[in-house]
Amino acid sequence: MRNRLVSARDGMTELTGTTVVSMGSRIRLSEPAVPPVDLPSTVIPAIGEPVIRQLVHAFYQRVQHDALVGGMYPPNEWEAAETRLADFLVYRLGGSQDYLTKRGAPRLRMRHASFAITPAARNRWMELMTEALAEVPLPQPYANIVTQFLSETATFLINRTHSH
Ligand code: HEM
Repeated sequence: MRNRLVSARDGMTELTGTTVVSMGSRIRLSEPAVPPVDLPSTVIPAIGEPVIRQLVHAFYQRVQHDALVGGMYPPNEWEAAETRLADFLVYRLGGSQDYLTKRGAPRLRMRHASFAITPAARNRWMELMTEALAEVPLPQPYANIVTQFLSETATFLINRTHSH
């Protein structure tokens, strides 16, 4: 699984940090030289919805028993929570927009504000997701795209430096 994370990062390196030579001087671009492609939205059209639902199921099997993040989730709502995350990912990865119809705009920072997402909680969440990713038949390069999307979103959701 380490390899997947490493190659996702390598993929980013390819897109950024481009150096061009112009009028004899070297200019470092802060923007990728290649126009950005909405990669996450290519996932569902290519691999279908069931694998993503399977991924979220494998993830929740783990989260429920996790000492660090498990307690943050409302008890007795595991099935509903699983559907919310699965619907969101299906929507965000280019599939049906059921999430928007059921829940409205994602506003994920706002919806996570009451949970103490410290760097440690973020890393644990991502670790459980990485284990779940290893369990489902998600082919490359889509596994990398999904890993990168989840990892960046999880970092974006960090809202505390400490848990107390
Ligand atoms: C970084 C660590 C994270 C923690 C500790 C965390 C925790 C939680 C908790 C406790 C809930 C409430 C469960 C529910 O009732 O639905 C929730 C909901 C949700 N989370 Fe996270 N989350 C994390 C990262 C993420 C990431 C990376 C994503 C998306 C890529 C995500 C997407 C969602 C969605 C879509 C919901 C349901 C929102 C709604 O419609 O109410 N979360 N999360």
